[in-house]
Amino acid sequence: MDTKRIVIKDKENPEDQELFEAARILREGGLVAFPTETVYGLGGNALDADAARKIYAAKGRPSDNPLIAHISCMEELEPLVREIPEAGRVLAEKYWPGPLTMIFPKSDLVPYSTTGGLDTVAVRMPSDPTANRLIRLAGVPVAAPSANTSGRPSPTTADHVWQDMNGKIEMIVDGGPVGIGVESTIVDVSGPVPTILRPGAITQEMLDELFGHVMVDPAILGPMKEGVRPKAPGMKYKHYAPKGELTLIELKDETIKALYTPGSRLYSQVSRMMADSGKNWKLDMESFYMAWKVNEAAVQREQTGAKVGVICTDETMDEYTVAVKRSIGRRSSQDSVAHNLYAVLRDFDDLGVDYIYSESFADTHLGSAIMNRLNKAAGYHILMV
Ligand code: TXA
Ligand code: MG
Repeated sequence: MDTKRIVIKDKENPEDQELFEAARILREGGLVAFPTETVYGLGGNALDADAARKIYAAKGRPSDNPLIAHISCMEELEPLVREIPEAGRVLAEKYWPGPLTMIFPKSDLVPYSTTGGLDTVAVRMPSDPTANRLIRLAGVPVAAPSANTSGRPSPTTADHVWQDMNGKIEMIVDGGPVGIGVESTIVDVSGPVPTILRPGAITQEMLDELFGHVMVDPAILGPMKEGVRPKAPGMKYKHYAPKGELTLIELKDETIKALYTPGSRLYSQVSRMMADSGKNWKLDMESFYMAWKVNEAAVQREQTGAKVGVICTDETMDEYTVAVKRSIGRRSSQDSVAHNLYAVLRDFDDLGVDYIYSESFADTHLGSAIMNRLNKAAGYHILMV
């Protein structure tokens, strides 16, 4: 199949003319990849069982993993769901359109091939103007998983999509790099307390503020215990494993405490090292120590002759002596880290390194989504220092 690629001239104001063909392909049961504010999606008609099969085939994805139906406005929600619980209304009012997916009891209109056999349906209303307009013009809800081959990082540029989907789908709509860079927050609103099934840019802190308290599915917090099933079936897969073995370096609580205790042995040691390094210090002790330990682990591995890379940050980059290093963004900006995360992981796959060592990040706010994706990529392989 020849994959057509169209480039949107002004992605904030796409013209209908530019999207008519893509909309027609979707309506007629074909597949179109398109930008959203989170990651690129691989779209097909959510009401067409055949389109869902094509999506699974193009991604090479197990078909028990349900798809998110994307809509452009509230009127399009009603036909898809049996009811809209109060929490769903509140969240839609506050965060739609935006990077939020909600789980509702499904109506008969939605085929089981879209929901992976479940009686619930995941629905999201994207705010990206190209995505939103395309869905409106298609006139059907659009099922769209991330537009990557199953097992690869989610695509955040049209080039990433091209690498994975060229020849497998009808069209790629190129709307430039996405804004957020990690997938939407998934919230189950069908129970008495809203439950986060996947962390994203609508954070637990934002939801707590709205509802007083929300629950978090245990699948997000750590490796799944034998026999325990995550509520979002997709969370059970080791979504993406880099070709190189990824290890996250995390600081122990006692390490952090010592770093903030003047007079402790570690405090003196690290202060001395920071002074010795003779640079104009902008780093805090925690970041400096983190970089030092990541570099140490990477250098040790390099000495065995392996090809090693590190994931560092703009602030810590200069501290590293290993050969291959990539900045994932600024430590001071969670937005920048989320934005670059998947591109950096793709980069390491292309570089063909054997081992990757990565700095870790605070897991509050957007950091919860960042650490969830990094932890999954690392298969929860963590070195505590
Ligand atoms: O940001 C996003 O959500 C992107 C863009 C393209 O919109 N889409 C995306 O789709 O991340 P996907 O297919 O890669 O992830 C969908 C997740 C999976 O983990 C799946 O298990 C979960 O949503 N999910 C879908 N329907 C569900 C349901 N009825 N109940 C629980 N989880 C569901
Ligand atoms: Mg995905």
